Amino acid sequence: YTVDWDLSAAEKQGYDTFMLKEIHEQPRAVADTLLGRFDEGRLHLDELQTDEREFGRVDKVFVLACGTSRYAGMVAKYAIEHWAGIPCEVEEASEFRYRDPILDPHTLVIAISQSGETTDTIAAALHARDQRAPVIALCNIVGSTLAREADGVLYTHAGLEVAVASTKAFTTQIVGGLLLALYLAQQRGRMYGSEIEDILGRLQQIPSALEQVLELDGEIRQLAEQYQAVPYTMFIGRHVGLPIAYEGALKLKEISYLHAEAFAAGEMKHGPIALIEDGSLVVALAAAGHVFGKMVSNIQEVRARGASVLAIGTEGSTADLKANADHVLTLPEAPHELAGPILSVVPLQLFAYHIATLRGEDVDQPRNLAKTVTVE
Ligand code: G6P
Repeated sequence: YTVDWDLSAAEKQGYDTFMLKEIHEQPRAVADTLLGRFDEGRLHLDELQTDEREFGRVDKVFVLACGTSRYAGMVAKYAIEHWAGIPCEVEEASEFRYRDPILDPHTLVIAISQSGETTDTIAAALHARDQRAPVIALCNIVGSTLAREADGVLYTHAGLEVAVASTKAFTTQIVGGLLLALYLAQQRGRMYGSEIEDILGRLQQIPSALEQVLELDGEIRQLAEQYQAVPYTMFIGRHVGLPIAYEGALKLKEISYLHAEAFAAGEMKHGPIALIEDGSLVVALAAAGHVFGKMVSNIQEVRARGASVLAIGTEGSTADLKANADHVLTLPEAPHELAGPILSVVPLQLFAYHIATLRGEDVDQPRNLAKTVTVE
C-alpha cells in the first residue's frame, strides 16, 4: 500500500494534524457539495451524466460501501425511503458479491467511496453492473477507478482528505446521499420543485450550523480529559442517530485503539445492556426528532445500571437530557431531521480526536490502517 500523493505537499495550515484541519474544513466542504444544484424549479445533478429518465423507473436501491462510507450510506437509506419511496438496502461491499443479490435494470446501485479505489467497493459495483443494474458512484476523487467504471458519478467536494480517519469526506457523502434521494423523488414525481427548493434552502444553513458545532471543541476536550482512560465506550442511537453511533464508535477505535461499539438503542435490552456496569461510558445520540422520547428512556435505562451518559442533544431538547444524562453537548437544531447526522457526527469526531491525542497516538496515521484499502 502506498499513498498516491505527496503528503509533504499538502499543508496542515496551522493545525497540528491533518485530521483536525479536515474536521474544521467541514463547513466549507459541505457548502461546496451543495453548490449550484437547483435551477429553474428543478434539482440538477448534471455530473451524473446518465439518462435522467432511468431514475424514474428505479424500484429498488442498493447502497454499497466500506467503512465510514457505509455509514453515510445508512443515512442515505433513510432519505431514499422517506423522500423517494423506494426500498433501499445498505451493505458492506465485501459481502455483496458473495451472496446472490437480486438485481435487474430497475435496481439502482449507489457505490460510495471517498477514494474511488477501494477494491471491495469497485468489485461490488462491477458485479452489479454485470447483472445490468445501473451504478452511480458517490465519490470524492475525480477520475478514480470507481468514477470511471460507474454509469454515472456524483462528486462530493470535500477536497483532498489526508488523515486515515475520514471526517469531511463523510459529511459530504451524507450531503450527496440526500441530494440523490431528492433527485430520485423528483424523477419519480414524488416531490415538486417547490418542496425540493425548500429543503435545499434549509440545507444551506448547515455550514453555519457546523461552525457553531465546532465551537464546542473546548468543552469536548474537557470531556476527553475526563474519559481518556475509559476502556470501553458504548454508542447508542435510533433512526439517523444510529449510523452516527456506528461512526462515533469507529472513529474512537480507529485512532485511540480503545474498545468501542455501537448499538441500536432499542436493541439494548436484547443483550448489550448486560455489559453496562458502574463506570461504563455511554454516548447517546439524542437530537430532537420523532425518536427523542425513546432515546431518553434508553438513557435512563443505562444510567440506572451505573453508566455515565454523554448525550448529544439539540437546542430545545436539552432540558430532558440535562435531567437524565451526566453531560449534554447541545448542538443547534438541524434544518431537517434527515440532515441531523451532518452536525451530530462532529462532536464524536472531536471526542475521538482529543482522546487519541491525549493518549499520545498518531491520529493521522493510526496503526494497522490504510487510507485506501486496495486489497481484498
Ligand atoms: C479505509 C479508510 C476509511 C474509509 C474506508 C472506505 O478503511 O481508513 O476511512 O472509510 O477505507 O474508503 P473509501 O475510499 O472507499 O470511502
